[in-house]
Amino acid sequence: SWTMAAYREKAVEKIRTQVGSGRVICGLSGGVDSSVAAVLIHEAIGDQLTCIFVDHGLMRLNEADEVVSMFRDHYNIPLVHVDASELFLSQLAGEADPETKRKTIGRLFIETFEAEAKKIGGAQFLAQGTLYPDVIESVSFTGGPSVTIKSHHNVGGLPERMNMELVEPLRELFKDEVRALGRELGLPESFVGRHPFPGPGLAIRCPGGITPEKLDILRRADAIYLDEIRKSGQYDKIWQAFAVLLPVQTVGVMGDGRTYEFVCALRAVTSVDGMTADFYPFDMGFLGRTATRIINEVRGINRVVYDVTSKPPGTIEWE
Ligand code: XMP
Repeated sequence: SWTMAAYREKAVEKIRTQVGSGRVICGLSGGVDSSVAAVLIHEAIGDQLTCIFVDHGLMRLNEADEVVSMFRDHYNIPLVHVDASELFLSQLAGEADPETKRKTIGRLFIETFEAEAKKIGGAQFLAQGTLYPDVIESVSFTGGPSVTIKSHHNVGGLPERMNMELVEPLRELFKDEVRALGRELGLPESFVGRHPFPGPGLAIRCPGGITPEKLDILRRADAIYLDEIRKSGQYDKIWQAFAVLLPVQTVGVMGDGRTYEFVCALRAVTSVDGMTADFYPFDMGFLGRTATRIINEVRGINRVVYDVTSKPPGTIEWE
């Protein structure tokens, strides 16, 4: 649309004016916001931009590879891919408290990012894909006026700590506008239309302690669920859909044997901005088919349930 084309031009000008001949570092999360910010900044200042992708080992199936290949091969944007999964998983081992998990991930993310930025050296600017709703909600998310329901994982404390100036070209935009800008910049529709994914990744979709084995089971169930949603043409009607691996084992029967395996919960919601949400009313045929596929194809799960909680009183994520 002409408005987004105009916004793009103005934003590019603004970035050039702010940055001059300086160097910019941008943290990529694999999500739409940081990706759109990176592509826009790259358009403005080319290789004065370096992206850092801290891979915490908590991404979905194949996701880390997709991010790397899109930026490096498709856009030719300089990208440092830090595989920090061992560090994250070892520090999270045995930790079951949701807030401690979130805080540990946030801390490790900042430490890893900072160390990489130092290696690159000489950058005065830090780019972030902060949106307008993030600006409003940066202190307490989803809570009442003074209650923090969940500590959000973001790079909030980084700029002061690293003594860098922020570049935030999406600060005035809402999610749907960021998607429009992404299309304007030529990002593939399949990428621009992706559901939001939380910074702490699969760690908060694996209530209780996480292990590489549990993450692997969760990844495979989640991929089947999303595959069924895409095949049935419902992906774009849903704000977010994902699988959760519960720390509960139940008894089942397969062939003539007893099984004792984990329960997988499926979640899907509609929402405008993530602040409130309604559970998505799948038909039972869809749920039955998906459950059968997950149980048949994923060793380690023998029962599937569907979450029919809206927000409030539930939150979208389980932790
Ligand atoms: P909740 O679970 O609070 O989630 O209803 C609302 C929206 O926020 C996402 N979410 C996060 N996003 N860092 C993020 O970048 C986080 O720590 C985080 N926690 C939740 C969630 O996926 C949903 O879209």
